[in-house]
Amino acid sequence: MKILVTGAAGFIGFHVSKKLIHLGHQIIGLDNINDYYDPALKYRRLHELGIGKEEASQDGILVRSSKNPSFQFIKMDLADSKNLSDLFQNEKFDVVCNLAAQAGVRYSLENPKAYVDSNVVGFLNILEGCRHNNIKHLVYASSSSVYGLNSKIPFSTSDRTDSPISLYAATKKSNELMAHTYTHLYGFKTTGLRFFTVYGPWGRPDMAIYLFTDAIANDRPIKVFNHGKMERDFTYIDDIVEGVVRIVTGTSADKSCKLYNIGNNKSEKLLDFIEEIEKNLGKKAEKNMMAIQPGDVEKTWANVNALESDYKYKPATTIQDGIQAFVDWYKSYHS
Ligand SMILES: NC(=O)c1ccc[n+]([C@@H]2O[C@H](COP(=O)([O-])OP(=O)(O)OC[C@H]3O[C@@H](n4cnc5c(N)ncnc54)[C@H](O)[C@@H]3O)[C@@H](O)[C@H]2O)c1
Repeated sequence: MKILVTGAAGFIGFHVSKKLIHLGHQIIGLDNINDYYDPALKYRRLHELGIGKEEASQDGILVRSSKNPSFQFIKMDLADSKNLSDLFQNEKFDVVCNLAAQAGVRYSLENPKAYVDSNVVGFLNILEGCRHNNIKHLVYASSSSVYGLNSKIPFSTSDRTDSPISLYAATKKSNELMAHTYTHLYGFKTTGLRFFTVYGPWGRPDMAIYLFTDAIANDRPIKVFNHGKMERDFTYIDDIVEGVVRIVTGTSADKSCKLYNIGNNKSEKLLDFIEEIEKNLGKKAEKNMMAIQPGDVEKTWANVNALESDYKYKPATTIQDGIQAFVDWYKSYHS
């Protein structure tokens, strides 16, 4: 298949691209390599895929990987409707996997416009590209944050999601509504994936596991929000990739609008997660207990029954194995 993967320099997009290349698909990775977090990490991920920093930095130019000829990369912004539309017309993708977005709950309080530009305008441009170019299937990233103030657990896609508590969540919910509209009007298949706290090697520096590991390794105190009374369905990156790839490469001919939770189906206590990091670093954390942050929810837990039955999705990684893999990667990346 010829697949467009947006956000290919990002954490999840990088891993998904790598796996799809390995499976023999032809991939075009797209990313604007923005500086929401250190772009050096994004260039290092692209380097792993065989794209050098200089080539990756050229706006709007498709460059081919030196080590994976079936991978090409283009630096482009989803909000750039003209160039994105030309890319769709020229490349004739079979499937689109949209993982590019302005991520992060907390940053949406500081810079709300970035969320509307990438997640609403950018997503509309992706939908338009699909509509006008006969795309068979659009798979896109949503988020567990759409559950907002929902208190029924585990979270199920049949629960109401009309009480988001961050603009980030509101843009992800908007994506689901927009996708529904486009499937209804133009008859192409869309699948939205509500990711639950993804972690693992090459992870995002703004996320808790990275922040904690970095602080503990460098003898700085860590901020533990809601006095540690937080629980998360932490999902290891390989399990996410397995699920995303099954959906992206699936051959079902139905043209419906679907939504799935993609998580580990287990809620872990934040303090247990921190203890696992401490074990792997061989150091104790100095914890600053703090109040919950605006926009944050106390507990997430994914019901993944639908993904299990439709795609045989079975997350397999324990937090012990997952954290060990992350900390090993962290040490080698920073050495
Ligand atoms: N990591 C998680 O735990 C998690 C949880 C829920 C949802 N998600 C969603 O999954 C997707 C991937 O997340 P991630 O963790 O890999 O984040 P990431 O920030 O590492 O990756 C996103 C990539 O998209 C790129 N990007 C952002 N705006 C763009 C634009 N307008 N045009 C082109 N490229 C743009 C960024 O440069 C970045 O490389 C996102 O949609 C995110 O909202 C992630």
